[in-house]
Amino acid sequence: MNRPLLVGPFTQLLPMTDLPLKGALADEQLTIIENGGLIISNGKIQKVGLFEDLKSDNVDIHHIEGKTVCLPGFIDAHTHICFGGSRAKDYALRNAGKSYLEIAKAGGGIWDTVTQTRKATQEELIDGILSRSNNHLQNGITTIEVKSGYGLSVDEELKMLRAIKQAGEKSQVDLIPTCLAAHIKPKDWNQQVDYLEEIASTLFPILKSENLAYRIDAFVEDSAFSEEEIVPYFQKAQEMGFDITVHADQFTTGGSKIAVDFGAVSADHLEASTDKEIQLLAQSNTIAMALPGASIGLGCDFTPARKLLDAGAALAIASDHNPGSAPMGNLLTQASILGTFEKLSNTEVLAGITFRAAAALRLNNRGHLTENTLADFIVFPTDNYQEITYHQGQLGPCEVWKNGEQVTS
Ligand code: NIG
Ligand code: FE
Repeated sequence: MNRPLLVGPFTQLLPMTDLPLKGALADEQLTIIENGGLIISNGKIQKVGLFEDLKSDNVDIHHIEGKTVCLPGFIDAHTHICFGGSRAKDYALRNAGKSYLEIAKAGGGIWDTVTQTRKATQEELIDGILSRSNNHLQNGITTIEVKSGYGLSVDEELKMLRAIKQAGEKSQVDLIPTCLAAHIKPKDWNQQVDYLEEIASTLFPILKSENLAYRIDAFVEDSAFSEEEIVPYFQKAQEMGFDITVHADQFTTGGSKIAVDFGAVSADHLEASTDKEIQLLAQSNTIAMALPGASIGLGCDFTPARKLLDAGAALAIASDHNPGSAPMGNLLTQASILGTFEKLSNTEVLAGITFRAAAALRLNNRGHLTENTLADFIVFPTDNYQEITYHQGQLGPCEVWKNGEQVTS
């Protein structure tokens, strides 16, 4: 067993504890420990406090030089970073005036990535996930949710989910898999058989037996799956013990109601949510997940984050990194920009990519820095946490620690 390690001193240490899961957060509510330190042992946080108070003969010291801000590793709770090919063509078409849905109807969009992902081998998919997740790690993201959904058959979804699992075994980042077989209706499906029924009866048991995913997602939208189609699918998923999450209210409403009715862990997108959906979400335990990368990628409205928070919802923020709607993938840039447009406090932005994002994945061992949580933390070269969102992602961490190990320098 290694000796405990004291890391610090940090000019400001933000443990992100003692903040409510739901509702608006003012910066005055943020606890800042000046000249703070962390004792870590066996991959976990043992103690948080003043650096000087934590010094003792029983600990080794990792000295942090200069002015620094330390906070929990960021969590990107919604991505599609397992895919083949590129959709630069779609991006150009959108900028030339075509809409996302028009491009999809003309055979581009998600189906184009399905075609390209089916052509990729499992090894190629693993390489793609590893390279993208490693980039995110350099930017301070220590946990990433990764969806399937570009396979759209039992075998091709399995290829994706096995790739995600194997990439997770190799990656320094924790990858949390989600089955999104209900992304769109596969264009080549034999209409005699109900696609969702086939997925639920054949794929779900394999997800369990191979431990490939504990979460089921669906795109509830006029262009994808209707509310009526998705109810029996989610019922089966829930009966088998899967967590539910929903691509909801992106262009048309309805998905967030389904999410709340099923007690989903999160309802993601919500760009089209009206006051009615905002109230529903605020009165539920479902996390409302804003995906500013999709708004930036599509040139569409942002999720009404301010209204959601003021109504009392729990707001998480994720990148939605995918080849179609959100090709940029830089979570900190996107969360900072969402803050600018939606008038979010720094605490609301940082909560959205730390402990509120952890809650959306039902992971209570990360997202804040306190005794017994994972020693996943990041260090920014500045003496003021407000600089982090101010630079809109251009100020990156100088150190990233995952499970008590420094993984970048
Ligand atoms: O979350 N909206 C549905 N799915 C993804 C987009 C996937 C794609 O365009 O390839 C999203 O934005
Ligand atoms: Fe998405």
